[in-house]
Amino acid sequence: MTHAGPAIELDRAGRTFGDRVALRPLDLAIPPGEIFGLLGPNGSGKTTTLRILATLIRPTTGTARILGHDVVTAAMDVRRRVGVMPEKPSLYERLTVRDNLVFWADAHTLPDTRAAIASALAFVGLEARADDRVGQLSKGWRQRVALARAIVHRPRVLLLDEPSSGLDPSAAAAMERMIRALVADGATVLMNTHRLAEAERICDRVAILRHGELLELGTPRQLRARLLGNVVNVELAGPPTLPVRRAVEATPAISDVRWLPGGFACRLEDADRDTPALIAGLVHAEAQIVSVVQAGDLESAYLELMARTAREDELEAAA
Ligand SMILES: Nc1ncnc2c1ncn2[C@@H]1O[C@H](COP(=O)(O)OP(=O)(O)OP(=O)(O)O)[C@@H](O)[C@H]1O
Ligand SMILES: [Mg+2]
Repeated sequence: MTHAGPAIELDRAGRTFGDRVALRPLDLAIPPGEIFGLLGPNGSGKTTTLRILATLIRPTTGTARILGHDVVTAAMDVRRRVGVMPEKPSLYERLTVRDNLVFWADAHTLPDTRAAIASALAFVGLEARADDRVGQLSKGWRQRVALARAIVHRPRVLLLDEPSSGLDPSAAAAMERMIRALVADGATVLMNTHRLAEAERICDRVAILRHGELLELGTPRQLRARLLGNVVNVELAGPPTLPVRRAVEATPAISDVRWLPGGFACRLEDADRDTPALIAGLVHAEAQIVSVVQAGDLESAYLELMARTAREDELEAAA
């Protein structure tokens, strides 16, 4: 039977190691088919979250579920359903790619291990390297082995800890394509990453953690708007005419209009809500619109959030 609720669910799940709080009680619900990105500085609790979901460590508070199965009380059910790419995939360097997968596949009793391995190798494009020792492979190919290992039992949920870390741009793009293909095939993905442009491209939603605490959660677009203040840049073919200027000034919820030789920048109360009215006004005034873009990217939003929280910390320390 398919599970109707979230594919991945944390319910006040937290983790301490002795006195150290690695993850404060966190609520998260990731629906099936989503690619969810966990972002945050080193030591912010991303790997801890993923390890709880992968049943590698237990939460010290709260609960977590994968497709409705509790990570503590139904750990075996969870393990059958998750594919994990750990932060440091420990592969057997002296074994071939194929034998690494055989070793792993044997841990899951699969109906047809050979076929499962062949299909995982084909998916990651490793067929030609199947008989090479893992120790001889470059980082990019090892990451593919780690991904093949994570998907050999065809899990519905993938937990990927920095899947493209250390990869060159083409290898990272290939990893991105493979992640998208897995989701197109019905998987749900939770991935940790420091590559914010990648997160912006492939994640439906992201969460930003800091010191084990959830600071922000939303679509990359929502985070940009929230943290960077809904600035919209409009590029026009040629200088703005008087009717165009009037139309812009008359747009509801607009402020801080800054005219530039080839267009203008402005602030909207809510960029998602107000941009259509702005564009409609521009079209009505016969503006030659070349592009309308929300300013900033997820990386700028992230850096803004980190700068703000650092300022708050300073103020607290001074108080
Ligand atoms: N087994 C452990 N024993 C003690 N402390 C731990 C353990 N695992 C993690 N921690 C601590 O928990 C905190 C969160 O670590 P975690 O590995 O989850 O961070 P992260 O966000 O994945 O960081 P990075 O971006 O560097 O991978 C850190 O302070 C870390 O030192
Ligand atoms: Mg980590």
